[in-house]
Amino acid sequence: MSKVRVLPEHLANTIAAGEVVERPASVAKELVENALDAGARRVDIEIASAGRSLVRVVDDGEGMTRDDAILSFERHATSKLKTVEDLSNILTFGFRGEALPSIASVSKLTLTTRVATEAAGTQIVITGGRLGNVRDVAWPVGTEISVRDLFFNVPARRKFLRSDATESFHVTNLVTHYALANPGVAFTLVSNGRESIRATPVGTLRERAYQLLGPATVDRLVELDAEASGIRVRGFASNPQEQRTSRDAQYLFVNGRFVRDQSLGRAIADGYRSMMPSGTYPAVVLFVELSPERIDVNVHPAKTEVRFRDEHVVRSTVVAAIRDALERARMPVTSFPAPDNVPAMVAAARDEVSIADAVTNDAPSIAASVASPASAPSWLTPPPVRASQPALDLDFRPPAPTVSATEALERFVETGGVVEDDRAGSDEPVGAVHQGLPVVREARRRTS
Ligand SMILES: Nc1ncnc2c1ncn2[C@@H]1O[C@H](COP(=O)(O)OP(=O)(O)OP(=O)(O)O)[C@@H](O)[C@H]1O
Ligand SMILES: [Mg+2]
Repeated sequence: MSKVRVLPEHLANTIAAGEVVERPASVAKELVENALDAGARRVDIEIASAGRSLVRVVDDGEGMTRDDAILSFERHATSKLKTVEDLSNILTFGFRGEALPSIASVSKLTLTTRVATEAAGTQIVITGGRLGNVRDVAWPVGTEISVRDLFFNVPARRKFLRSDATESFHVTNLVTHYALANPGVAFTLVSNGRESIRATPVGTLRERAYQLLGPATVDRLVELDAEASGIRVRGFASNPQEQRTSRDAQYLFVNGRFVRDQSLGRAIADGYRSMMPSGTYPAVVLFVELSPERIDVNVHPAKTEVRFRDEHVVRSTVVAAIRDALERARMPVTSFPAPDNVPAMVAAARDEVSIADAVTNDAPSIAASVASPASAPSWLTPPPVRASQPALDLDFRPPAPTVSATEALERFVETGGVVEDDRAGSDEPVGAVHQGLPVVREARRRTS
């Protein structure tokens, strides 16, 4: 007997679900994307027990006929892709034809839908991937999908879910993303019967950001708008003083698609280079728009990654958009201290760095400078101030009380200071480098 078998459809779907459905927020993502692809003007999301017991998405999109509704749970059934060529020109969120069968294989799902051309709607119940009841129902045009008891048949997966607070956060974050990207669409999110998001349709991204992030945040953001080589970058960015300890306030989109893209993350970091200490992040709402042929969205089943065909152009456009916006808003694009501010800086560091800390640190020469500003090593010099820089708004905050001398130097470097190997007779900068530790070691080695 042959040992190779084609997996039964149900098993194949459960395996696919492993990649597509990680947590309740992934269910919400797929359902919200389907609603938007169906042209919905209103999307209502409801969760219970952080989405473990219920994720329901109701839309007023075009709906499905009875036949389409049944077919939509077949693996690789989609209305969004016909040819291989279509794959390089994707304008919809979905295209893989596997979200609904995957979700249905690991939950108890009810779909209710109607198209305008049919008098009756259709309701389908699927439990753990097995088709149950299909019946006619009275229903307005649009679709409702209720996903109950996620992972009821995959206990191992259920155990991987985090606390209710974390899972709810992911759903809220997801809805916030799609609501930001679609200001003209009404969104609500209800969690355990309590409404946590209500966004009525508005005309602009700024108005939508007001609704979702609140005036206190939005008033502190500057508008981004730049275009280069057919790549448009728009959105909002915070000033460098707004230092957050996580990327939670960074909302990234490529052609309206919510992405977690490392190259965009790096571009944002580059935009703020020398203005923010490492380990802190700005708040950013960033929309990158470019022709769909210039990106590959088929990178991962969850569709939260994209590959740019010209990544460096995207990156430089994002950096330029951020720098231009901060400059226009007269925020310090470069916060390099003027030369005579160095002693003040070192003094500030001295106030914060205990000598014991400094001498046990592996940078004795810095320790000396911290103990006595006058003896600051000559290689601890700031860079020359370029004429093109905007008015010098000195933006040096003393290090946190617990910093070591090494960290004090790191921060000096981060704020634009350059560490030079002066004693060796060379003025070649060891670096205005943000990750300071190797620089410190390097500087010490060279100067000892
Ligand atoms: N809310 C909805 N309104 C109207 N049609 C829908 C809705 N949800 C799903 N469909 C239909 O069901 C099909 C299957 O949905 P499914 O999410 O499984 O695949 P997809 O969106 O085509 O691709 P992907 O797997 O990448 O999401 C869709 O192509 C669409 O035609
Ligand atoms: Mg889909």
